[in-house]
Amino acid sequence: MTSAVRIGISRSRPEARSEMPLVGPLVDRYGRVHDDLRLSVTDRCNLRCVYCMPTEGMTFLPRAEVLSFEEIVRVAGVARSLGVRSVRITGGEPLVRRNICDLIGRIAALGFGDVALTTNGILLAALAEDLASAGLRRVNVSCDSLRPGRFSAIRRRGELDVVLGAMAAAEAAGLTPLKVNVVLLRGQNDDEIADFADFARQTGRVVRFIEYMPLDAEGHWDRDQLVPGHEVFERINARWPLQAMADPSDPAPADRFRFADGQGEIGLISTVTEPFCGTCNRLRLTADGAIRNCLFSDAEHSVRDVMRAGGTDEDLARTIREAVWGKLPGHGINEPGFLRPVRSMSMIGG
Ligand code: 5AD
Ligand code: SF4
Repeated sequence: MTSAVRIGISRSRPEARSEMPLVGPLVDRYGRVHDDLRLSVTDRCNLRCVYCMPTEGMTFLPRAEVLSFEEIVRVAGVARSLGVRSVRITGGEPLVRRNICDLIGRIAALGFGDVALTTNGILLAALAEDLASAGLRRVNVSCDSLRPGRFSAIRRRGELDVVLGAMAAAEAAGLTPLKVNVVLLRGQNDDEIADFADFARQTGRVVRFIEYMPLDAEGHWDRDQLVPGHEVFERINARWPLQAMADPSDPAPADRFRFADGQGEIGLISTVTEPFCGTCNRLRLTADGAIRNCLFSDAEHSVRDVMRAGGTDEDLARTIREAVWGKLPGHGINEPGFLRPVRSMSMIGG
């Protein structure tokens, strides 16, 4: 595993700098360059996954507070001019936003090296071709169980077959490599680790096991429900030996492993037990126009307020720079005083 290396990276970070640069790449006080933007286009969703939303009573943003396409594209363009190279469209569920293909076309036209999308897959089959034509490169599809009844129990709505069909449709449309996100919950789906590993081997889809994070709207998270990445590694490696793939300085949060026999790949996203904050390169735009520098920080800088007050692109650039500059060295989940963020996952963007 790469944890020691990752901790090494964070320890060898230069001393915090004190002056925010007004030119050059988007850096924070610790020298981390931010070139990956997550754009949440809605906080709404057509599912109610147990680790994300309550069954009933979730409240959503009033329409007037949600950024328009023009506003999202404007912020994305400024971010592009500040050196952001890759964009991921998220939600809530991004495909419930009307005319999403138009928006993706406009974002793709800004010239990012990579435009990807994370979806629950429910509406994906019908949209896959149009998304690809609009300039989307690839998708991550969430799927927490390969057993129909259990899939529907964890996600509370939606059916496994629909999501499996969507994966095939996305591949047929060229949205590859296709990644499958699995949130593991102790006692609910951790007996499917081998099944998912086998699924990765049989389909060539990259299955990524995600640790349950304290971001559920109901506040039910506790550490005992989380399945640590090292356990997933050990269980799969005992059956099908794994080889580490990526360079540990790669900012991507997943530890990537290929099967030693060459058949398939998995990823481990061990946000809680092996934080990758030392190499984090991400910033986020919420559906209501706040720049957030971390999933777990409540510090927000509203670019919506800047735009709606008549601000210039320079004003927007400065707001984005300030948001990045204020980033803390780590998320602090494992520290005694950790307070979970006020917003939950679907309100921030995964
Ligand atoms: N912990 C871990 N992952 C989560 N996701 C949503 N809520 C949580 C949580 N509390 C996942 C979704 C999706 C990605 C955007 O984040 O399943 O794959
Ligand atoms: Fe919807 Fe994704 Fe939250 Fe599930 S995890 S309820 S699919 S936003």
